[in-house]
Amino acid sequence: MTEVELTSGDFTEGNEPFSLFGAWLKDATASEINDPNAVAVATVDENGLPNVRMVLLKGYDERGFVFYTNFESQKGRELLGQQKAAMVFHWKSLRRQVRLRGEVEVVTDAEADEYYATRPRGSRIGAWASKQSRPLEGRFALEKAVAEYTARYAIGEIPRPPHWSGFRIRPVSIEFWHDRPFRLHDRVEFRRDTPEGDWQKVRMYP
Ligand SMILES: Cc1cc2nc3c(=O)[nH]c(=O)nc-3n(C[C@H](O)[C@H](O)[C@H](O)COP(=O)(O)O)c2cc1C
Repeated sequence: MTEVELTSGDFTEGNEPFSLFGAWLKDATASEINDPNAVAVATVDENGLPNVRMVLLKGYDERGFVFYTNFESQKGRELLGQQKAAMVFHWKSLRRQVRLRGEVEVVTDAEADEYYATRPRGSRIGAWASKQSRPLEGRFALEKAVAEYTARYAIGEIPRPPHWSGFRIRPVSIEFWHDRPFRLHDRVEFRRDTPEGDWQKVRMYP
């Protein structure tokens, strides 16, 4: 097993989770072969059936963890409906996991506009052309939609589609897990009763 130099010495020190998350994401950015910000997002539908898929984390701070998507997609509808979600990062090369759960809010229009403007032109067209999570009769229908929106927005800025924006998960729990020999892993959970509350730190059996 590869021994990993911990970013911040003993990661079980510290009284809030965000600086530790930042340190681990930085390590992952240096070590992962691609997409260190890839994260699984779990939602639940109106019947209580869970759902999970990967997204890319596009921002985090004390308010929570942000990603962008189509609000008419399966996940969009589930998040708008239940307003609760969970995430898990797994950085294989570091043998680390971070999981979190909490309430969901929609980012502000200004925040979404700012991020949308940084996306490549093709991705901005794609946000218009894809009816994400709905049946597609064939690849040609998607290419036709891309061609149509490319023509429509040939000149000038491409506006952000009204159905495309970001969700922020406001965590009430963040758990850090780091592989240790003989499966005697280190696990530390930061938890709080509400997204506005103070963090409590709990060390757990692996
Ligand atoms: C590494 C990776 C990153 C992804 N990032 C996003 C993302 O940031 N936003 C998004 O809407 N879909 C992203 N996807 C696609 C989703 O996993 C999913 O297929 C799509 O959003 C439809 O999910 P839904 O039907 O549950 O809404 C990503 C997929 C992978 C494998």
